[in-house]
Amino acid sequence: MCGIIGYIGDRKACDVIVKGLKRLEYRGYDSVGIVTADGDKIEIRKGAGRIDELTEKLNFQEMRGNRGIGHTRWATHGVPNDTNAHPHTDCTGRIAVVHNGIIENFAELREELLRKGHTLRSDTDTEVIAHLIEEELKNAKNFEEAVRKALLRLKGSFALGIVYADEPDKIYVVRNESPLVLGIGKGETFAASDVPAFLEYTNKVVFLDDREYAVLTKDSWIVKNLDTGEVVEKQVQEIEWTLEMAEKAGYPHFMLKEIHEQPKAIRDAIHGNRGIISKVAEEIAGYDRVIFVAMGTSYHAALVGKYLFQRLAKRIPIVEEASEFRYEFEDLVDDGTLVIAITQSGETADTLAAMKLAKRKGAKVLAIVNVVGSMATRIADLTLYTHAGPEIGVAATKTYTTQLTVLTMLAIELARKLGTVDPEYLGELERGLELVPDLVEDVLTHEESLRELAEELKDKRDFFYIGRGAGFPTALEGALKLKEISYIHAEGLSAGELKHGPLALLEDGVPVVAINPSGKVFDKMVSNIEEARARGAMIISLSDREELSRVSDVLIKMPEVDELLSSIVYVVPLQILAYHLAVLRGNDPDKPRNLAKSVTVE
Ligand code: F6R
Repeated sequence: MCGIIGYIGDRKACDVIVKGLKRLEYRGYDSVGIVTADGDKIEIRKGAGRIDELTEKLNFQEMRGNRGIGHTRWATHGVPNDTNAHPHTDCTGRIAVVHNGIIENFAELREELLRKGHTLRSDTDTEVIAHLIEEELKNAKNFEEAVRKALLRLKGSFALGIVYADEPDKIYVVRNESPLVLGIGKGETFAASDVPAFLEYTNKVVFLDDREYAVLTKDSWIVKNLDTGEVVEKQVQEIEWTLEMAEKAGYPHFMLKEIHEQPKAIRDAIHGNRGIISKVAEEIAGYDRVIFVAMGTSYHAALVGKYLFQRLAKRIPIVEEASEFRYEFEDLVDDGTLVIAITQSGETADTLAAMKLAKRKGAKVLAIVNVVGSMATRIADLTLYTHAGPEIGVAATKTYTTQLTVLTMLAIELARKLGTVDPEYLGELERGLELVPDLVEDVLTHEESLRELAEELKDKRDFFYIGRGAGFPTALEGALKLKEISYIHAEGLSAGELKHGPLALLEDGVPVVAINPSGKVFDKMVSNIEEARARGAMIISLSDREELSRVSDVLIKMPEVDELLSSIVYVVPLQILAYHLAVLRGNDPDKPRNLAKSVTVE
């Protein structure tokens, strides 16, 4: 996820762009770059760092010209550094491109361009686009045709802004699976990843659809279909958002926005790892001693990973909190050990310390990380990215479900290499995983009934969450989400553990949230639910099986999903419930008290 803003009009483009980038910073903040053009002179300033810092360092305000494009980056290919910051140019330096998305076939395009004699300077997937346009321009009748032909060769997701020095009165923007919206002013035209970037100047907008591009001048805009080149009729809409609302794309909080981004984030995690997962599985297949290390929500993802590795790869991993591992495992790790560290930020102090210890002892270290170029990726031998985009809310949501997605892909691929499970079933699971984003979308449509349930529950003092198998980490994660943002006491338990002590705490009306998808342990869970019910607990079940309403006060009806994929789908209503409970109790779910997004001290 990155942010793009484009401008053409009579104002100083750099002023509009810098302001826009500040409003888009939530989409990525590891590097910033701007291209402006004054007549046929084009200037680029860019670097790693945040917008405020770079405005001071690079003096963006000095850039001349009334047209330009800016970019705030969330790295997907290539670490965040000055060279990889956008815009990227072709060999002549006259075509400048900024990009939000992932070009899946960039490696083969890059090879082809290198063979044709192009010099590519960065490690990004974006740079190939500028060079492809340059290549097409050799035979095209005009620049627009070259752009279109080049873009037809791309696979993946892209929102693009393109400036060409030799067309002094135009800028180009394109959308395919990454957002892009036009802002229509009087004698000026804008384009951005999100409305707040230009809302200060105009509230008249045109939303581009996938595979559409627009040619913008200061007084006109035209939208065309990327595949046919034909003009598409578009409606100008008036937006009634305030700036504050618009920054969160209309959601009252980042957390809710991020919950709703999960279908896309999961799709991106699948697409982003498809090309690499087999190679990583190959590299780790020889290790039968596997230790997962992580903290907090990422620790819960590790517990799901353990379950997946057991069921599919027939490995028996150890899962250890990184803070324990770093002091207890010194003598237990060697070069025959694989350590899998899970961390969204890639900066958690305990997790980094655990990884360093593992490296020192000669272990192989694989990191599953969201933030590209973060410390964890520099320590690890191998990295898999979750591709969730920046998460601003302190409580992890989309980074968790994408961690689970990557772990599922890894376990499937490992099982395939090891021949531990019927390959036909692995194929089925893979196809099932592709459908998970749609199932999550379905769950998200039930938000209103979850909000009503939160109304009913908002004055409760204690909650218990129970589950078995993959439902157990879901119970832990549901309880963690609730306590960290609503400040209600909550415990997550394996359902079997209930009568070994915690049952003593159950009394009339105490909510027990039971995670119970169809599968191996469904009936066992029903018995545990009955035990809690007999003590007067209020049973809230999550299941695809209607019959559970017999033993439940509330049944949150879930879509059918393979048990091994259920933890991705079942956590979503728990996130929504926790969110609404926090809001109803007057808390800010984005900034829970006493907590920070990344814990960089022990
Ligand atoms: C809870 C939460 C934390 C983090 C934990 C580890 O919602 O976000 O529990 O999961 O601090 O952080 P990372 O994954 O960045 O290592």
